[in-house]
Amino acid sequence: MDLNLKDRVAVVTGGAAGIGEAIVRALAAEGCVVIVLDRDAAAAGKVAAALAESGHQAHPIACDIGVAAAVTNAFNQIANHTKRIHILVNAAGVLSTGPIADLPVTEWHRVSQVNLAGLLFCVKAAIPAMTGQGHGRIINIASVSAMRGGGSVGNTLYGTTKAGVVALTMGLARELGPSGITVNAIAPAIADTAMTNAALTTEARQKALARIPLGRLTSVSDIADLALFLASDRASFITGTTIPVDGGILTT
Ligand SMILES: NC(=O)c1ccc[n+]([C@@H]2O[C@H](COP(=O)([O-])OP(=O)(O)OC[C@H]3O[C@@H](n4cnc5c(N)ncnc54)[C@H](O)[C@@H]3O)[C@@H](O)[C@H]2O)c1
Repeated sequence: MDLNLKDRVAVVTGGAAGIGEAIVRALAAEGCVVIVLDRDAAAAGKVAAALAESGHQAHPIACDIGVAAAVTNAFNQIANHTKRIHILVNAAGVLSTGPIADLPVTEWHRVSQVNLAGLLFCVKAAIPAMTGQGHGRIINIASVSAMRGGGSVGNTLYGTTKAGVVALTMGLARELGPSGITVNAIAPAIADTAMTNAALTTEARQKALARIPLGRLTSVSDIADLALFLASDRASFITGTTIPVDGGILTT
């Protein structure tokens, strides 16, 4: 299927590692100009340099999305450089685990500042370019924990922020549809990345695996494949939805 993504400008937050990096690589392979936006400047630089070396168009931007002024500054830099933004993938996120009763209230601020506020800052910063073009694709990385109120690693607080992402996705789709912008979310189950590797014990991983009808964890390419489709004009009539990529875990 030709996705017609050549020369589209795509900003991927959290693009220096894990799911975001897989999406960056997939978009670059389709011919997009990719902006690897991440708070880890060194890692973003490395991903962009490796892509540029293999002939792709990739640029790193260091930015902590939880800081509104930093996001404004980063998107101003992007606007000066590319003039256009066709695709925004909001993949930057942080995990929190453990019983709510044991968590300091500061943990709510830390996690929601990135997963909810930071995502919203990036959307707001991308809207002017997208409405100017009359075209845009926003793809938010939520989580199946949004539908379950947390999941197998005791992540009630995290799941709550991701449920906010699902609600934001619907509301933004309604607001931005008339400007030619679609907004969708992808809800992965457990994927093998630094985020989950740090949080999952071998026992928790085995327990989660036992509940997945398709018998394996989500791979980052499962998520990148769907992101490519949602970023393309092939998905031009899909908006406001959250699509699980979970091997069927939500059925169990
Ligand atoms: N890994 C999973 O099992 C899983 C499952 C469901 C949803 N998700 C979601 O997918 C997204 C990516 O997760 P991952 O597993 O690839 O994580 P990861 O930790 O492997 O990578 C996250 C990247 O985001 C960057 N980042 C974190 N906070 C940032 C901030 N404030 N500003 C800019 N960059 C920031 C990190 O530096 C890192 O490069 C997250 O939103 C996560 O909640 C992950």
